[in-house]
Amino acid sequence: MTSQPPAGVHLEPGDYTGSDPLVFTSSPARSPQVPSAPQARAPKTVEMTIDGAPVTVPDNVTILAACRSQGIDIPTLCTLSTLTPEGVCRMCVVDTGGRVLAPSCSARVGQGMTVWTDNDRVRHSRKLVLELLASSVDVDLAGPELPDGSIARYMAEYGADPSRFGPPSPPAPAGARDAAEAGHHEQPDGSVAERVAQPAKVDNDLFVRDYAKCILCYKCVEACGADAQNTFAISVAGRGFSARVSTEFDVGLAESACVFCGNCINVCPTGALMFRSEYELRRVGEWREDDQTVTRTICPYCGVGCTLELHVQDNRIVKVLSPLDAQVTSGNLCVKGRFGFDFVHVRPKGSDREA
Ligand code: SF4
Ligand code: SF4
Ligand code: FES
Repeated sequence: MTSQPPAGVHLEPGDYTGSDPLVFTSSPARSPQVPSAPQARAPKTVEMTIDGAPVTVPDNVTILAACRSQGIDIPTLCTLSTLTPEGVCRMCVVDTGGRVLAPSCSARVGQGMTVWTDNDRVRHSRKLVLELLASSVDVDLAGPELPDGSIARYMAEYGADPSRFGPPSPPAPAGARDAAEAGHHEQPDGSVAERVAQPAKVDNDLFVRDYAKCILCYKCVEACGADAQNTFAISVAGRGFSARVSTEFDVGLAESACVFCGNCINVCPTGALMFRSEYELRRVGEWREDDQTVTRTICPYCGVGCTLELHVQDNRIVKVLSPLDAQVTSGNLCVKGRFGFDFVHVRPKGSDREA
């Protein structure tokens, strides 16, 4: 029988040459050296100039973030803190001295960069963007995420006059815009301003798609796709002025891949995607935001514990949103948390709180 090394003896590799498996009767000795944490990356910064003032900012932020860190107001429509910037609306452009203006929401800062956020070139461009949007889309409910304010505030600030493109064209019949082929283009005669006006799509009990209000910001497409839901029920179909958000083959939502999470509603900046309850109340002039309360609570359906914001009017829940800064879920919910609230309105017959 091969003898085991005595207890407490420290063995180096190769010290034991016996054939029996080693049985340790005490812990092997440990190195007295405490391992050190890996070196944190030293924060890198760049020096640049914003509106003539020298600033130092982290090297990995967007121009928009750098400007906002200096308290500079830049209007945005298509960007959102929880989504990948698409850079499609062009409201946030700034002048970096290049041939074209840069979308500050997606362009990164750089060493020695000079940025003008409010010169004539920038103001002219933003004014035109506002005019083109407001002449073709119903932007009455549109508002940028940050800073506070609605698109109307920017229309006034930039002196935008959408009426200069002429009287609005009549609304398209239901389905006409969805039937447009890629590449198809009617030559406008210039007598009216082209619009995306069309009847709202009311094809289910949960939410309405009113694409007469759609500025094609892509937020819903991103939220439905790789940025959040990974369902890919909607995408942009068509080209040019015929481009529109669509389900596959323009089928109704219930026939599409949609799982009714409503994450697209949570990010839509224009009211194009709207709870059916809000839509119906607005239709009869009974949507009263000033009379509503907003209560934060936790979804009761499962252990994830998503944060809900219950919008309540006349003692009834009229819509459920979720704050973008909610940890873990970043404002996303599933169909139960978003729409499964009707049961709270069912109260025992004869109760003084009967609905
Ligand atoms: S409800 Fe959800 S699944 Fe349906 S279109 Fe919107 S994001 Fe996509
Ligand atoms: S429906 Fe709303 S979120 Fe989607 S592209 Fe249009 S405006 Fe943007
Ligand atoms: S907010 Fe930057 S392009 Fe839309």
